[in-house]
Amino acid sequence: MSFKSILAILPLAVVVSAAVAPTPDTADHLTPCGNGHSAKNPVCCKWFDVLDDINGDGGLFDGGECGEETHESLRLTFHDAIGFSLHKPANVGGGGADGSIMAHSEIETNYHANNGVDEIIEEQRPIAIRHNVSFGDFIQFAGAVGVTNCQGGPRLQFHAGRANFSFVAPDLTVPEPSDSVDAILKRMGDAGFSAEEVVDLLASHSVAAQDHVDPNIHGSPFDSTPSTFDAQFFVETLLKGTAFPTGSGPNVGEVESPIDGEFRLQSDFVLARDSRTACEWQSFVNNQQLMVSKFEAAMAKLSVLGQNVAHLTDCSEVIPVPKRAASNVATLPPGKTLRDIQASCKRSPFPALKTAPGPVTSIPVVPPS
Ligand code: HEM
Ligand SMILES: *[C@@H]1O[C@H](CO)[C@@H](O)[C@H](O)[C@H]1NC(C)=O
Ligand SMILES: *[C@@H]1O[C@H](CO)[C@@H](O)[C@H](O)[C@H]1NC(C)=O
Repeated sequence: MSFKSILAILPLAVVVSAAVAPTPDTADHLTPCGNGHSAKNPVCCKWFDVLDDINGDGGLFDGGECGEETHESLRLTFHDAIGFSLHKPANVGGGGADGSIMAHSEIETNYHANNGVDEIIEEQRPIAIRHNVSFGDFIQFAGAVGVTNCQGGPRLQFHAGRANFSFVAPDLTVPEPSDSVDAILKRMGDAGFSAEEVVDLLASHSVAAQDHVDPNIHGSPFDSTPSTFDAQFFVETLLKGTAFPTGSGPNVGEVESPIDGEFRLQSDFVLARDSRTACEWQSFVNNQQLMVSKFEAAMAKLSVLGQNVAHLTDCSEVIPVPKRAASNVATLPPGKTLRDIQASCKRSPFPALKTAPGPVTSIPVVPPS
């Protein structure tokens, strides 16, 4: 390009950039909420009260823990939202993320797949009522806030304004750990999720444990780091299974796990190895950032299932910035090598991972209280 032609386009470039420049005093303007917080959108202010309540000392997450209530609250976001079908009206297929699991808990908690969710529902319900927010909003808000308490956790979007009205979701919308990959992908597909997105959502099992598949043990986790939102889950589910955490295994939906005291769901085992899901699964083992961003995207979809987003208000600004992970590089547990990995993605080799130093670990098995 000649010097003259550069000069010729310059004035145009100046005009264009002046036209798209943001108006300085409306961008990022914060309104004080009167509760120690400020919000870009004043409609979101009341959610800071809810935040301070659930993350405060003695609150639902008692000072911001990534513990049992956090895990159960994240699970509840799924069990409420997945009561939905793209092919059936809300009064037949379920209204999605609408709070029906709480509003109609006397029915929905009796569904087999919802075993155990009654506890967190009854902890959450009075808080939602106290703050005069809809059950559907509260369930998604609690899940999003809770998971930011987990090291390395995602920062999920939060939209407010779901109606407090819902139909009872039908039975059999929530996948079971004993379901085949075909059945899981069919059900999730019916709700609008691809095979890859099913894997993305299962990053949640990185901060998860079971109480009800094997009721003889309490809180046996799906990976060795259930308070950290890391990729250990995706590594450890690919290790050869060696034993059940208790003598009562296998329970329905359970397969052998690779680490003493760890619990492995059959559904996680088969999804890690199926040709439709194995490459997405493997893509996270050395890329925690990818795992987090894909989880955020899939949860953005899950959390508004059945809702018209245009009628909701984006209050994501209320969701805290999560604690960073101390390390986001997954390792093979002590004593394991790449030979113990059942690599299942045909397209690409399993990435090199280091073995964590130290003695072979075991997760203490806790009897139910
Ligand atoms: C393929 C579909 C899925 C199956 C078959 C499945 C199955 C299960 C089972 C059986 C448990 C143990 C519950 C207990 O015994 O207390 C569990 C726990 C959990 N699930 Fe899933 N799940 C699936 C997908 C999801 C999704 C999409 C999410 C969230 C986005 C999720 C989040 C959780 C969490 C956080 C826990 C731990 C709860 C706790 O520690 O109390 N799961 N899941
Ligand atoms: C939502 O509905 C439940 C009954 O299902 C009620 O107890 C609660 O107070 C309602 N909350 C709001 C904000 O209207
Ligand atoms: C609760 O919220 C509803 C609208 O969602 C409103 O009409 C009602 O006045 C509120 N009640 C209280 C006590 O703030």
